[in-house]
Amino acid sequence: MPTAERTSSSSSHTALDLTWVRSQFPALAQTINGHPAVFLDGPGGTQVPQQVIDAISDYLSRNNANTGGAYHTSRNTDRMIAEARSAMGDFLNCAADEIVFGANMTTLTFAMSRALGRELTAGDEIVLTLLDHDANFSPWKALEEKGVVIRTAKFNEADCTLDMQDLAAKIGKRTRLVAVGYASNAVGTINNVAEVVRLARQAGALTYIDAVHYAPHGPIDVRALDYDFLVCSTYKFFGPHMGVLYGKREHLKRLRPYKVRPNTDNIPNRWEWGTLNHECIAGINACVDYWEELGRRATLAVTTRRAAILAAHEAIHQHEREMMERMIAGLLAIPGLKLYGITDPQRFENRCATIVVRIEGHSPLDLATKLGERGFFTWDGNYYALNVTEQLDVERLGGFLRIGLVHYNTVEEVERLLAALREIVEG
Ligand SMILES: Cc1ncc(COP(=O)(O)O)c(C=O)c1O
Repeated sequence: MPTAERTSSSSSHTALDLTWVRSQFPALAQTINGHPAVFLDGPGGTQVPQQVIDAISDYLSRNNANTGGAYHTSRNTDRMIAEARSAMGDFLNCAADEIVFGANMTTLTFAMSRALGRELTAGDEIVLTLLDHDANFSPWKALEEKGVVIRTAKFNEADCTLDMQDLAAKIGKRTRLVAVGYASNAVGTINNVAEVVRLARQAGALTYIDAVHYAPHGPIDVRALDYDFLVCSTYKFFGPHMGVLYGKREHLKRLRPYKVRPNTDNIPNRWEWGTLNHECIAGINACVDYWEELGRRATLAVTTRRAAILAAHEAIHQHEREMMERMIAGLLAIPGLKLYGITDPQRFENRCATIVVRIEGHSPLDLATKLGERGFFTWDGNYYALNVTEQLDVERLGGFLRIGLVHYNTVEEVERLLAALREIVEG
């Protein structure tokens, strides 16, 4: 979704230095059965640059300690975590104390649903969508046991876009929360989250935005769009396996998380339970450093870290757009192939480069296996977007084949994938 920030930063020239980018990711140099490995599995998890690997290793080698101790490595750990919060604050455009670290998005969302659930009473309503990953569905649906009413907004099957009229109709006087994905990890649709926030606000409801799939593809500005909560997972945008929750300070202070007694009541730590994965938090710091460096290389004029991150997004956007255009045009030319989602290039600003298809006579698993033998890493199945595969009636057929492009992929890889798919289909 183009945001105001993207528009304003596009006035300066940005270009992705793809040779440099690829040299940062050691995993990209692998071969499979003599074929170069092509990572089209970004929606399931991206590769990490060397600096993330080094930061994790360095932390374990020299600073491995628990927090809050009166000695060198523990203090270094405290400092490092504070720096990582501030780095993620720049990534999402919020304050450091509004950043909560957790094991992953799903765990953070279950914790938040339990805390929010404490405030809800029978008859209160939560609005969800059928386009969402199950991690932004089941944790809220679990509150039905308290008498909370779950209302689900549909999506348009023709282009897999959210039915905004239906969403608007589902939001009412009893709505307490609207939980919506920023972008679909299955069909790639980018939702109009600004409109979702507007509708929720009008009804006095809170918003919970799942930005896990969107984060590697577009800039996030929690202040500009005034979300109450937003969640993402660093392993989807070139960092380690962890989740991050942004919560508006007033909510993080007011709500009551379930927690152990000795844990502080200060934010954001009251939302973090037990010992965190410190080495991965060190990796998050390095991940944001990578984004910053990418942006500074793309646009020399940037000054702040936030501006560099936005410049990186601008460069990534152009590159992903070019790859997506070629990929979708090439896929649509394959006989017997059906692509689910937006296919009209005029509307590509409303989708990201995550593409799902089915091909007549070939199961998604069969296609993914054959592609895998040729070095192409794709996914088959439902990717936990269970409502999507059920509504489109492909769950019983093995779901879709998903091809996901991120900025370290190349146009040449796109052409090779298309050639391999054609070869498989022609037998
Ligand atoms: C859109 C979306 N939301 C949520 C999740 C769950 O994220 P996590 O693995 O961090 O729990 C995923 C994971 O694939 C996802 O793609």
